[in-house]
Amino acid sequence: MKLWGGRFRESESKLMEEFNASLSFDKRLFLEDITGSIAHVKMLNKCGIVNEDECINIINGLKSILKDIETGKLEINGEYEDIHSFVETNLIERIGQDGKKLHTARSRNDQVAVDMKMYAKKVSMNIVKCIDNLLKTLKEKGEENNYIMPGYTHMQRAQVVTFTHHMMAYYSMLKRDKKRIENAVEILNESPLGCCALAGTIYDTDREFTAKELNFKKPVDNFLDGVSDRDYVIELLSSFSICMMHLSRLSEELIIWSTKEFSFIEMNDKFSTGSSIMPQKKNPDAAELIRGKTGRVYGSLMAMLTVMKGLPLAYDKDMQEDKEQFFDAADTLEMCLMVMQGMVSTMVVKEKKLKEAVKQGFLNATDVADYLVKKGIPFRDAHRISGEIVIYCEENQKSIEELSLEEFKAFSTLFEEDVYNSIDYNEILKKGIKKIMKL
Ligand code: ARG
Repeated sequence: MKLWGGRFRESESKLMEEFNASLSFDKRLFLEDITGSIAHVKMLNKCGIVNEDECINIINGLKSILKDIETGKLEINGEYEDIHSFVETNLIERIGQDGKKLHTARSRNDQVAVDMKMYAKKVSMNIVKCIDNLLKTLKEKGEENNYIMPGYTHMQRAQVVTFTHHMMAYYSMLKRDKKRIENAVEILNESPLGCCALAGTIYDTDREFTAKELNFKKPVDNFLDGVSDRDYVIELLSSFSICMMHLSRLSEELIIWSTKEFSFIEMNDKFSTGSSIMPQKKNPDAAELIRGKTGRVYGSLMAMLTVMKGLPLAYDKDMQEDKEQFFDAADTLEMCLMVMQGMVSTMVVKEKKLKEAVKQGFLNATDVADYLVKKGIPFRDAHRISGEIVIYCEENQKSIEELSLEEFKAFSTLFEEDVYNSIDYNEILKKGIKKIMKL
């Protein structure tokens, strides 16, 4: 069932047929393919290339194929090269001669290009919706658990922050991811339909019309570029990869926080799994899988950068490789966003553990130094004095705020009663991060 047998004396080898076929994976483009074809035939009719009856016949035929696919009456499989051949062959079988006119003034090169762009827009918008849900959850979880906790640098306790502020850091990252995806969609939003194989057509067609019918901003400017542009696939894969990187960093923190050693959170059973041998274990598999799948999405980005590198204009069959990479990466990201949302919304944050970690971490040592600076000591000297106080506290198993004023004065006579206010964690937060948080 080929669309191009005319010029061949011998038939294709079975091996080549199998190697060349894309139906098994491009079948998910059926809706875009049929929608694109309906717009195309309407345009052919408007421009006087097919008549009214032929146009109606073709549209009805395409609609009946769509309905049969959607209701499961027509399965997409068999000896077809790709989804385009599948739809066209089925159309000819259903409506006869008129069906053979559909492909006038079109090539599979502009057909697949427009299908992929429509599909990319659709899945990108689904992904943006999933990001929105996760953004909402991160904000709510943060607001519900406005506890003090240690902030880290080099994985060492550094300064006091709040759980809210920590969640809102991921909120900011994901907000950028959303913008990146929306921006990529804005750039790709030009229709390649009507470029034909590479050089347009001798027919007097109307690319503005099909662009409008299919919700594109405008037709592409250049035919050669129109059929061979896969920048948007790479740009979206890059945005997906950055988003996965963010999810992977959050996963890593959730994994660490749910260890007995940290115990900052407890994952809900719904998003944990057990061990087949060690009965006591509750494993954070969901977070680990997200971390693991990040590599897979990066792989798709690298694959497409490599596929496109060095391709001469215009269409080359190498580009068929875009589909499996893009589909897999988009499916993976969408699923990971949903799982992350479930995991974050159901986890329990342990206020007591977070507070204990703050107390044991000398997280107000910088504030001791800042206190002395305000009393006139240069920061470098204040830093040294505060460091000596930390050693003293470690040796005597005390936190800084537990020292008496006498003990403070042994390090500097400038310490007064007001030091306690300056090193109180809630006061520190008020002057620091809470200042910038619109909660
Ligand atoms: N399956 C092909 C692809 O995904 C469709 C375009 C085929 N074009 C061609 N000239 N053989 O790229």
